[in-house]
Amino acid sequence: MNYYDKIAKGYNGLYSEEQLNKLSTIKNNIKINKKMKMLDVGCGTGISSGFDCFVVGIDPSLGLLKKDKNAKKLLGVAESLPFKNRSFDYVISITAIHNFNNIKKSIDEIKRVGKVRYVFSVLKKSKKFNTIKNLIEKNFKVEKVIEEGKDTIFFCQNHNLYIYKITTIE
Ligand SMILES: C[S@@+](CC[C@H](N)C(=O)[O-])C[C@H]1O[C@@H](n2cnc3c(N)ncnc32)[C@H](O)[C@@H]1O
Repeated sequence: MNYYDKIAKGYNGLYSEEQLNKLSTIKNNIKINKKMKMLDVGCGTGISSGFDCFVVGIDPSLGLLKKDKNAKKLLGVAESLPFKNRSFDYVISITAIHNFNNIKKSIDEIKRVGKVRYVFSVLKKSKKFNTIKNLIEKNFKVEKVIEEGKDTIFFCQNHNLYIYKITTIE
């Protein structure tokens, strides 16, 4: 049983408030419509999946996934996302990326399954913070950075947005 399975029972009681504050900041800084498709990588109990569009969550902790009875969710890891290229309008990952075993591979996967927009909320106190920040900056165009509680939130676009637009227009 992994760490998150062990704390699954008390997770929402411990973290709801701070995670909902991050969610609120993200909602105030992105434009969503109901037709959009979003992937929440490391969705946990689904607190971070509360957007008004079609949201799929993925997480390796069955204990946390079981706490959310409503959302569409999959058991799985960021390093191997079971989706086709460019499946989602938004890919988000909230206070989860420092847990991933292979951060570089996970970012490659997140980039692959997303079309244009990405949001990463990263735990400031993580020893991996600078590595994660550098990988985000290398792989995406960072449009905005906001400090929110224990996290720094990166609002990003795909570097290839221009190419993508041309390809979809043709
Ligand atoms: C602090 S919790 C955040 C959960 C949720 N995003 C939230 O805001 O409440 C970190 C999450 O990362 C997940 N996680 C750990 N390793 C992962 C991996 N390799 N791929 C995807 N998620 C992972 C954990 O199971 C846990 O749900």
